[in-house]
Amino acid sequence: MDFLSSADFSGREIGEIFAIADHFKQGNYSFVDGGTVLALLFEKPSTRTRVSFEAAMIQLGGNTIYIDASTSQLSRGEMVRDTGRVLGSYVDMVAARMYRQTDLVELAKSSDAPVINALTEMEHPCQALSDLYTIREHLGKVDGARIAFVGDISDNVANSLMVSATRIGASISLVGPKGFKPNGTYVNLARENGKVEIFDDPKKGLNDADIVYTDTFVSMGQEKWAEMRRKLFKPYQVNSEMLGYAKRSAVVMHCLPAHRGEEITSDVLDGKRSIVWQQAKNKLLIEKAIILYLYKKRRKELDSVI
Ligand code: CP
Ligand code: NVA
Repeated sequence: MDFLSSADFSGREIGEIFAIADHFKQGNYSFVDGGTVLALLFEKPSTRTRVSFEAAMIQLGGNTIYIDASTSQLSRGEMVRDTGRVLGSYVDMVAARMYRQTDLVELAKSSDAPVINALTEMEHPCQALSDLYTIREHLGKVDGARIAFVGDISDNVANSLMVSATRIGASISLVGPKGFKPNGTYVNLARENGKVEIFDDPKKGLNDADIVYTDTFVSMGQEKWAEMRRKLFKPYQVNSEMLGYAKRSAVVMHCLPAHRGEEITSDVLDGKRSIVWQQAKNKLLIEKAIILYLYKKRRKELDSVI
């Protein structure tokens, strides 16, 4: 089993992953077999995802190998599928951060080892699980939570968050510029399970929100359009005035890295209503739970073959 898309895990499976995370949070330990190897194949930069996956695997008793794709033969034109076939014969699991979701899918198809999406231009499914776990921790439950995603409502983080959130009973408002559309495929997928509303007026979009979520206006790979994007999304900066449109109890989330003064102001990011640092911390817990979940699933598959 791979984890390539937020669509891969049902609400029940997300609940199972949260239960494993709770188990770790309560101070319990679980391990993979010594010598289990996770390869991290990264085409784009990362701080949190890379380090939390590496730390997670080490804490589980396994090992990791970090592969900067620019130093691999991919950079000289080796096909993704040939890379996947070989990597999958050396290691037990691969976490890949790739420019294109289609490349990630190709990598997974050719790899015998399970592949985890560590971010593509379309999705960031591990981030969504860790964010929803944080919401559950903060509110005491995630069922019924109202999330307002403000800014670039068509980005990878928004896509994954809306799909996973609606599978576990949360609803989401996408708040962005008039005429700027979220990705219809993900909106439709999310609407199969829950409520997704689209607003251009922050006053309406944030009304009743428990969570105000934002992400960069310029995602990795969009540098060419940086100036245009900063201008387009400027009115959607999460600042104290914007926060005033949400419930008094609403808190702020951001997947990080933050661009202070662009999508969020420093006073909000560091303020009392920010749960951003707790959110970042939970990535380690959830990466650990995801690795263990896929590892156990894989063991079961192999056992049934023997
Ligand atoms: N949130 C997140 O994925 O951060 P990194 O890009 O640092 O991994
Ligand atoms: N949307 C951002 C998320 C970074 C974790 C990007 O893709 O750059």
